[in-house]
Amino acid sequence: MAEKIVILTGAGISAESGLGTFRDEGGLWAQHRIEDVATPEGFAKDPALVHRFYNMRRAEAAKAQPNAAHLALARLQREFSGEVVIVTQNVDALHEAAGAEVIHMHGALASALCAACGHRWGAPLVMAPGEPCPACGAGAGRPDIVWFGEMPYFMEQIEDHLLGCDLFAAIGTSGQVYPAAGFVQQARYAGARTIEMNLRDSDSSHAFEDHLIGPASKVVPSWVETLL
Ligand code: OAD
Repeated sequence: MAEKIVILTGAGISAESGLGTFRDEGGLWAQHRIEDVATPEGFAKDPALVHRFYNMRRAEAAKAQPNAAHLALARLQREFSGEVVIVTQNVDALHEAAGAEVIHMHGALASALCAACGHRWGAPLVMAPGEPCPACGAGAGRPDIVWFGEMPYFMEQIEDHLLGCDLFAAIGTSGQVYPAAGFVQQARYAGARTIEMNLRDSDSSHAFEDHLIGPASKVVPSWVETLL
């Protein structure tokens, strides 16, 4: 029986809550260019466009409710005899809404970040270019989202968790974006058993020992049952 579980989640866990994924057919990256809306260079070039993109994401996320997969992971964290660490690449707040504690390695829609002084505050639903920082007053507010070319948050903490885990699960992620896509290898190196849950094989499926194929709202609750 595992004593420490690390769970990585991606956009697929929120798909059944109505939030679009990035790389599935018709996903966000089919409709928007990554360079335009998810890089520091894109923000420097056209901050209004980038704010519009994240304002839209924030509005959609505000309407979404956690689904059975988020609720099952929160229950696992509450009731499991050992430790359960949830790391998400998602910027929505559905894990928290389900009652879980979560590490947001790619930032959060609910947070704003001052590019001048690094202060963070609760993002308003609608942000605009020149958003003033409540701490230093600079008009340098940006979404607190990790863009391509930026370092994901809490990496040291996450790596420590991976080194100490004996079960690693990845749920609803395409395994295309590093460093998250490499977590499975780090967990294996630490001797953990690994399991992937996805609608289909992902780019890193070969690295996992076990696979549960199906929608997160079905496979995650039944997996959680086997652990409790
Ligand atoms: P992707 O859009 O790349 O992948 C979503 C995955 O979820 C795919 O493998 C789908 O097969 C799977 N999926 C879709 N619906 C599902 C369901 N109902 N149940 C289970 N699985 C399902 O999303 P991520 O892997 O999260 O980063 O993307 C990683 C990062 O790339 C994101 O955090 C974002 C993006 O660019 C930044 O913006 C920095």
